[in-house]
Amino acid sequence: MTWDPRSLPDLSGRVYLVTGSNAGLGYFASEQLVRAGARVIMTARHPNRLSAARTAIRRRLPDAAPDATEPLILDTSNLGSVRSAAASVRGKGALDGVLLNAGIVHPPRVRETTIDGHEVVFATNALGHFALAGELLTALAQAPAGRMVWVGSMSTSLTPYDPLDPQLAEGYSAWRAYVQSKVATAALGFEADRRLRAAGVPVESVVAHPGYSIGGRTAGIAGVNEPSRTKRFADNLQAFMAQSKEHGAWPLVRALTDPAIEGGEFWGPKSVTRGEPRRATASKITRDPGVAARLWDVAETATGVHWPFEKAARLRR
Ligand SMILES: NC(=O)c1ccc[n+]([C@@H]2O[C@H](COP(=O)([O-])OP(=O)(O)OC[C@H]3O[C@@H](n4cnc5c(N)ncnc54)[C@H](OP(=O)(O)O)[C@@H]3O)[C@@H](O)[C@H]2O)c1
Repeated sequence: MTWDPRSLPDLSGRVYLVTGSNAGLGYFASEQLVRAGARVIMTARHPNRLSAARTAIRRRLPDAAPDATEPLILDTSNLGSVRSAAASVRGKGALDGVLLNAGIVHPPRVRETTIDGHEVVFATNALGHFALAGELLTALAQAPAGRMVWVGSMSTSLTPYDPLDPQLAEGYSAWRAYVQSKVATAALGFEADRRLRAAGVPVESVVAHPGYSIGGRTAGIAGVNEPSRTKRFADNLQAFMAQSKEHGAWPLVRALTDPAIEGGEFWGPKSVTRGEPRRATASKITRDPGVAARLWDVAETATGVHWPFEKAARLRR
């Protein structure tokens, strides 16, 4: 069966939040959700970039409702920013879904730490989203079928993971930092599913990945995707294995909206790096409950966020 976000069910009345929605996969996921009638809380760390992305959606979808997107500043590397953004979302009532997408994809060559003292890639990609999902749990539990989607990566099976050192205090490299952060993201997503089920919370946790999706194979959009000629040339040489970020957003949007998908599933492109969404098998390390439980403890300690499972379970309709 083929799948296309242009044939999504009508999402009128639904509200979703997307992190890192000013560019890349987060932008296209937001656009696809708005096209289907949803209202999207678009979040980014820079007001100007966020504004450019909202303008692009208005320009590309002129029939969308004037309030189809709502701006919210959210820096996932900063726990204070995560807490205050989540508080403002909670104040508005039910949330149908959150796409935990923002990420550093080109980590610094030398280890850096955030204002909260954590390694910046782990903090941005994994810890910030762990804190955000926990802070939004009660809002998700108030929706008829609340769902969170974590964005993993194929890279998790390409490099050994060190469960004892998720913040890479020793042996930092840009590649290891990226892979470790994505192992943590996916493992936390699967662990969230186990804990939500055990606690009887009516919220699903799904993990998805976009294959290999690159800007030089993606339509140019002012302020959102403006690749140089050189990048277009280089990215076109990878056409056989790569896809656009617009297509890369498909598995993420499907994981967020398809009612047939269940918590704990893993979704990605059909041909691994590209293609339409299909259910996939996550790498072994991300499915290891021991690794995930340890990461959950690390994330709780590092963020100070303890998910309100009991309170969320009481909100079951
Ligand atoms: N593209 C792929 O092939 C691929 C493959 C596997 C997984 N992924 C994952 O997919 C996600 C999106 O990747 P992408 O390809 O769309 O990358 P991208 O084009 O570089 O976009 C990344 C987005 O994350 C935002 N971001 C970065 N740091 C942030 C922070 N501290 N707070 C808030 N937002 C922040 C960026 O905002 P700024 O513009 O402000 O930097 C941007 O909106 C990432 O989690 C990545 O690991 C991508």
